[in-house]
Amino acid sequence: MPKPKLHRQVTTLWDYPSQNYGKEDQGDKNYKGATPSYIIWNLLMRYTKEKDLVVDPMCGSGTTIDVCRDTNRRVLGYDINPFRSDIFRADARKLPLEDGKVDFVFVDPPYGDNIDYSDNPNCIGKLPAYEESYFTEMEKVIGEIYRILKPGKYMGLYVCDYFDKKKGFVPIGFRLYQILSLRFETVDIISVVRHNKTLSMGNYRKAADEGNFYLRGFNYLFIMKKPKVRK
Ligand SMILES: C[S@@+](CC[C@H](N)C(=O)[O-])C[C@H]1O[C@@H](n2cnc3c(N)ncnc32)[C@H](O)[C@@H]1O
Repeated sequence: MPKPKLHRQVTTLWDYPSQNYGKEDQGDKNYKGATPSYIIWNLLMRYTKEKDLVVDPMCGSGTTIDVCRDTNRRVLGYDINPFRSDIFRADARKLPLEDGKVDFVFVDPPYGDNIDYSDNPNCIGKLPAYEESYFTEMEKVIGEIYRILKPGKYMGLYVCDYFDKKKGFVPIGFRLYQILSLRFETVDIISVVRHNKTLSMGNYRKAADEGNFYLRGFNYLFIMKKPKVRK
């Protein structure tokens, strides 16, 4: 089936009914937690130009790398557990990059321990969102993003809140935004419609309805700018 045409999103509610655009896939749609590629495409169209250097410090299945190649941007993808050979092994809390050299950063981190990404003990996805250590470690990732970006340049952080019937609700989005806003200027906050399969599954919908809780219907996309002068 042909995928819908890509277009630049013009409101703060972003929606596109497919994981990928065009004839080929970007990243791997079977990778649990892969980012829908139109989100990265939209950010690159607005905040970068051809030949700019883009970094994804938690690159997963490589979606950012593929979108950068499609759009003629230079790219470096890192992950604690590289999924393919063009992703470098590195910890997002200590990137092998000089200060202030990067034009744009995209990051889609683990949302607490909602997905088992790998056995690597340094995976931030081992830390539950209802424990403070998740936010302490994410603060280090955000600090690194700030360090590697050129002043005046942009980053996008894509994240979802956490809910568990026993543990309750954790507003991951608000908490990470608080951390981001200590260093960065806010450009905008986007709500991205989720098209996860579980959202349309009858048993999940029934459990939410009967249990009086909500399934996660949107992700936050925080678009931030590194100020030209330190905050
Ligand atoms: C939500 S996934 C990223 C999905 C990716 N954007 C894609 O489209 O496939 C989060 C990634 O963070 C990685 N990760 C977790 N802790 C990390 C760390 N300390 N340093 C680097 N990567 C880490 C995981 O291995 C996982 O691949």
